[in-house]
Amino acid sequence: MTEPRPWWQTGVIYQVYPRSFQDSDGDGVGDLEGVRQRLDYLVWLGVDALWLSPFYPSPQADFGYDVADYCDVDPLFGDLDAFDRLVADAHDRGLRVIVDWVPNHSSDRHPWFVESRRSRDSSKREWYVWRDPAPDGSPPNNWLSAFGGPAWTLDEATGQYYLHSFLKEQPDLNWRSPRLKEAMLDTLRFWMARGVDGFRIDVAHHVLKDPGLRDNPPNPAPSGGHKPTSPYDAQLHVHDKDHPDAHALYREVRAVVDGFDSRERVTLGEIHLPDALDRWAAYYGGETLDEIHMPLNFGLLNVEWTVEGLRRHVAAVEAAVPDGAWPNYVLGNHDERRLATRLGPKRARLAALLLLTLRGTPTLYYGDELGIPDVAVPADRVRDPMGVRSGVPGLGRDSGRTPMAWDTSLSAGFSTEPPKGLWLPLHRHWGRENVASQSKDENSMLSLYRALLGLRRERPALRTGAYRPLTGSSDKVFSFERRLGSDRVVVSMNLGDEPAIVSSQAPPVLSTLPGPVSRDQLRPWEGRILEPAGRTLSA
Ligand code: GLC
Repeated sequence: MTEPRPWWQTGVIYQVYPRSFQDSDGDGVGDLEGVRQRLDYLVWLGVDALWLSPFYPSPQADFGYDVADYCDVDPLFGDLDAFDRLVADAHDRGLRVIVDWVPNHSSDRHPWFVESRRSRDSSKREWYVWRDPAPDGSPPNNWLSAFGGPAWTLDEATGQYYLHSFLKEQPDLNWRSPRLKEAMLDTLRFWMARGVDGFRIDVAHHVLKDPGLRDNPPNPAPSGGHKPTSPYDAQLHVHDKDHPDAHALYREVRAVVDGFDSRERVTLGEIHLPDALDRWAAYYGGETLDEIHMPLNFGLLNVEWTVEGLRRHVAAVEAAVPDGAWPNYVLGNHDERRLATRLGPKRARLAALLLLTLRGTPTLYYGDELGIPDVAVPADRVRDPMGVRSGVPGLGRDSGRTPMAWDTSLSAGFSTEPPKGLWLPLHRHWGRENVASQSKDENSMLSLYRALLGLRRERPALRTGAYRPLTGSSDKVFSFERRLGSDRVVVSMNLGDEPAIVSSQAPPVLSTLPGPVSRDQLRPWEGRILEPAGRTLSA
């Protein structure tokens, strides 16, 4: 049976954090040429597309998510020629390239903002969100920055506040300005002309806000029903994000992306609305599916690791994703703690199985395939502004952004710079847990990922088949079927510390654990892929 599906539905996306993948020029920070040198690894691993976090000119206040020029490469990462070489070599190997697009805010050093802040009469004043102070001189409303403190900073020279949903170095762009909108849509065209295969849209649901700038109401029930953990969580963000007008904008963005040329491209939206799957799913574009191809689904990051918890989450996603649209799952990224630490070593292997066998496009985060853990970054090496601001060691996002470990050479093959000159420290066991050593060990995490990716490639049922939960003989075993035509596989995972009896097991095609496999018993925390006998068509 054929699968007339776009590549982003059948493929697997791999997120590269360019600062930490491969340093080609010995400055302790990764770069685009470094990524190019490692493309063969991605092919060997078996992924289909790489998504690059920002490499644009930037003062790096938020590590590139503060863009000072949307159409160039920061010298730290190389130049446009290096980018072109990377895309060409990726395409030669059949890999697609997705770039990050940061539409909510620019850097305060972007020439647009420099011009905008110059005077109230600036021709670009309306490209950002400026407002007079409240009568008592305080900010125009109660909106807060996701990174702490008010979302408004007073510009003394012009006597107005500007809005920044994140750092004060990241002023929010005003998408209600037609000229700003055109300039930003042009940045999409710029990268499409250079051959990119898609965009990951940073905080996509933040772009438009209430034009009346109304105060956010208090949040009576923050997520999970617990007490708000921060002033930010104590508000209901009804006026500063997920504004209904964003949908019309994404229809325009989609038309620009789909209409550019004949290349099949994807848009991925970073949309965190954990308590409102319906509003998250609305970004697919309702019945017409004409907005974002895939709003990224972060639900698995916080799922309860019980049969009920997993089953409920997958059912909710399956129900929320509109007909004809395609689900996706994320288990890690540069904003989260490392998967191996969050879930622990036993569950991390099951997580690999889950992510690569559910119905939907998986996004892998570099290094998770080695089980790289969170790294305790010493106070004097903390870099993430969230961490610096909090002053609490470990609170920032550095711990999950540390350099990739390739081999046992100096600095794990990441750089020719010795470890203390790297922008962030390597993980402690890099001498043991690196690509070279794990690729030789058939029981390693890397070998597990590679086997799963290989199987996904071989089995249409795993790529695009229907999902059906199965009720097993044990309440600790999460089981589901994936089926496409006559191709059928069953995935089972034991979420308990005791062996679990399972009925009528066929020989597994894959087990997440090394060692002998028993047909009628799953070992504690073992997951399997089975091929039910006869590849039957009946339920
Ligand atoms: C997104 C990015 C994050 C960044 C924030 C502000 O959430 O993933 O790294 O700090 O946007 O741009």
